[in-house]
Amino acid sequence: MGKPPTKVGFREYAIYQIYPKSFRDTTGSGIGDLRGVIEKIPYIASLGIDMIWFNPFFVSPQRDGGYDVADYYNIDPAIGTMDDFDELVRTLADNGIGVMLDMVLNHTSTEHEWFQKALAGDKKYQDFYIIRPPAADGGLPTNWESKFGGPAWAPFGDTGNYYLHLYDPTQADLNWRNPEVRDEMVKIVNFWRAKGIHGFRFDVINVIGKAAELKSSAPGEDPRYMYTDGPDVNAYLQQLNAESFGQDPDSVTVGEMSSTSIQNCVEYSNPDNHELDMVFSFHHLKVDYLNGQKWSNVRFNPIDLKRTLNEWALGMQEGNGWNALFLNNHDQPRSVNRFGDPTTYRVESATMLATMIHMLRGTPYIYMGEEIGMTDPEYHSIDDYVDVEARNAYNALIDQGLDAAEAFTIVRSKARDNSRTPMQWDDSPNVGFTTGTPWLRPTNQEHINVAAEEQGGKILAYYKKLIRLRKQHLAISIGEYQPYQLEHPQVYAFTRTHEDEKLLVIVNLSDKEIAYDIPADFATGEVLIANYPNPTVADTIQLHPYEALTLKKEVVA
Ligand code: NOJ
Repeated sequence: MGKPPTKVGFREYAIYQIYPKSFRDTTGSGIGDLRGVIEKIPYIASLGIDMIWFNPFFVSPQRDGGYDVADYYNIDPAIGTMDDFDELVRTLADNGIGVMLDMVLNHTSTEHEWFQKALAGDKKYQDFYIIRPPAADGGLPTNWESKFGGPAWAPFGDTGNYYLHLYDPTQADLNWRNPEVRDEMVKIVNFWRAKGIHGFRFDVINVIGKAAELKSSAPGEDPRYMYTDGPDVNAYLQQLNAESFGQDPDSVTVGEMSSTSIQNCVEYSNPDNHELDMVFSFHHLKVDYLNGQKWSNVRFNPIDLKRTLNEWALGMQEGNGWNALFLNNHDQPRSVNRFGDPTTYRVESATMLATMIHMLRGTPYIYMGEEIGMTDPEYHSIDDYVDVEARNAYNALIDQGLDAAEAFTIVRSKARDNSRTPMQWDDSPNVGFTTGTPWLRPTNQEHINVAAEEQGGKILAYYKKLIRLRKQHLAISIGEYQPYQLEHPQVYAFTRTHEDEKLLVIVNLSDKEIAYDIPADFATGEVLIANYPNPTVADTIQLHPYEALTLKKEVVA
């Protein structure tokens, strides 16, 4: 068995995220499977990562890509068996790689046994969900919107009552105020711990603490305060921690936080609070939302991205919290399209963005395909998109009066399917993913694939170096963060300092050549990593488009 992950270690971890449905299909079904991951372990191990976060592969009707769990204790037969899972965990451990499972504990699928029993009239299970009578006027219990569009309430059978679903109507929110629900959640986590799992990602975990009284919001009022970061969330997490993963000194936990704040994330991840190790937050991925609206198509402004990342880096550092660092995941379009240039400067912008993420204070996550610079697929019709959110958004935009072309352009820029296309292993039509028909169509594999990268591509090698460096330099894993020239409109720079080691990270977030002044003591420094060959370091550096440089100086006492 390989070495188990250590608690001290998560700050120097690099975590790789796999969307199993899209990684590698060994059966020809068109859907990725666990045996496919086992087959690719040599590739994964070659990256040097420490742990894999797997998107959920529990039994699910797959209405929301497995985030609609019908049975927390079994593997979805479309993806594998429990034997496959055990073999996967064992083989990864032999390679020194841990497993992080995705725990979807805010809601269950409406096909879950608990919901079905509740529907059949079982009072015990009715109290597992959030069921309310209609409002006094006979309408829905509140005016809340689901995060996937439309009302957040659906009829509870033919009872005349409604159940809450913050996401799809097939994802019913659980009632965490009920201690029996909390006990079940503990049981689920402990079941997987008993199978040797140390890592857990908790899906939208800051919405588990709903207010006792759920009310309609007044016009212009945001109702989220009634279900986001509520005062009970901390207590629920402390209970989960004390009764499950917190008993394991090697556990690594991350909570996904929806519409949260720095203060709350400090509380969730400050070790003194015994809740979670780290948090995913999303403010930095809303810099290309027009007036806070995801379904808009505007280019980001580098200064907004810098300011947001800086605010979170400083705020979390001050409160002794810990960020999970990322630009890509299964819910986000590819970062090269969004913040870089997928055509002229794909290699440069992919490596520049990687530098920014890996050098910030926190634990970096690499979403499969990011390490080879995968880009959004080139789809031309809404029919190419599978995701329920994209389809709902398209229809909503049409209802708002946009024409089909306008609605499509917007959906294409933000759809979650952008990152869910199959992992591109080679340049064959089905990208080495499947011998069948892929469930989601790949489009741009000719020049972007693992085989090509392994034969001298620059992005993969650069990621491997970033991962190696974080294990060699405490300034990267645990160093103090300070911004440098924060108001520069295009260049984001910051220092990371640990004892006598000081790094200056400089990334050009634009396609412009920029003359950039650096402090004199770095002008004589060593180049730790750079994405252009042989950079000339001087008091003023001539930065190329999307250039990234990390300089190291020795602090003279
Ligand atoms: C966040 C997950 O990342 C997303 O994919 C899912 O749709 C929602 N939570 C609901 O579970």
